Amino acid sequence: MRIEANLILFFWAFSIFSCLCFSVSSVNFGYRFHSSAIQAEQVKLPRKSSGTNKLYKTKYFTQILDHFNFNPKSYQKFQHRYLINDTYWGGPKKNSPIFVYTGNEGDIEWFAQNTGFMFDIAPHFQALLVFIEHRFYGKSIPFGGDKDVAYSNASTLGYLTSTQALADYATLIIDLKKNLTAVDAPVVVFGGSYGGMLASWFRLKYPHVAIGALASSAPILNFENITSPYSFNNIITQDFRVISLNSIYLF
Ligand SMILES: *[C@@H]1O[C@H](CO)[C@@H](O)[C@H](O)[C@H]1NC(C)=O
Ligand SMILES: *[C@@H]1O[C@H](CO)[C@@H](O)[C@H](O)[C@H]1NC(C)=O
Ligand SMILES: *[C@@H]1O[C@H](CO)[C@@H](O)[C@H](O)[C@H]1NC(C)=O
Ligand SMILES: *[C@@H]1O[C@H](CO)[C@@H](O)[C@H](O)[C@H]1NC(C)=O
Repeated sequence: MRIEANLILFFWAFSIFSCLCFSVSSVNFGYRFHSSAIQAEQVKLPRKSSGTNKLYKTKYFTQILDHFNFNPKSYQKFQHRYLINDTYWGGPKKNSPIFVYTGNEGDIEWFAQNTGFMFDIAPHFQALLVFIEHRFYGKSIPFGGDKDVAYSNASTLGYLTSTQALADYATLIIDLKKNLTAVDAPVVVFGGSYGGMLASWFRLKYPHVAIGALASSAPILNFENITSPYSFNNIITQDFRVISLNSIYLF
């Protein structure tokens, strides 16, 4: 109970902070999302991809390719990568929380290595950290891990949807909790940019799996005919005006 109350207060406070950050950090990301999250560009891994760091362990889960088809012929699977760090976890007996990063369009190691916030707060909450890769990115490539096949045409790329990705996360989280005998551990999902949209959608669509979501720089309403295509430029123009005026007074 106390952990949950703490978490709720904390995320409420942080969501205000995230909103403030939105106008700054969505410079790079906001414009990418038009009518489909799938149009998002792939985030490139700038540094060495793995090996030397000791931030997490790498695991693979045999994931369902199509969560929405009940034809036995379509029960294909693929190897789904996730990263895990249990250093700070209080364990199942304490009902310590699980913080899950809902991976976006890119190699999950890049997101894990650049989401220090989760590592920073994990000791305070005694949280287990899990970073799940988005299907079709990094090492989580369906069709035998062959990117050329997976990206070849509409019949294979048809499985690259945010809806399937969310179902991947739910399936993996539920199975992981079972394996850890931590079925009652509260789960909070985290994400930034498209990953933040995934975190928010996950909380909406799977409220029985996640008790909360923290979405940072997530352009959730930035879709055609919902938000004006000029709204972002209007906000930064306004910011620029305020900053210029302040500079005049200061100097
Ligand atoms: C978890 O992350 C911390 C750094 O924040 C690191 O010191 C520790 O070795 C990591 N644990 C595992 C199991 O990778
Ligand atoms: C799509 O690609 C797959 C895998 O490369 C191939 O088996 C299939 O025949 C292709 N389908 C079409 C319609 O081109
Ligand atoms: C849970 O354990 C089973 C059996 O060892 C394993 O096949 C599966 O991958 C594990 N689930 C996760 C999410 O690691
Ligand atoms: C947005 O509205 C215009 C005008 O009503 C319409 O032509 C267009 O198809 C809409 N776009 C989407 C993505 O719904």
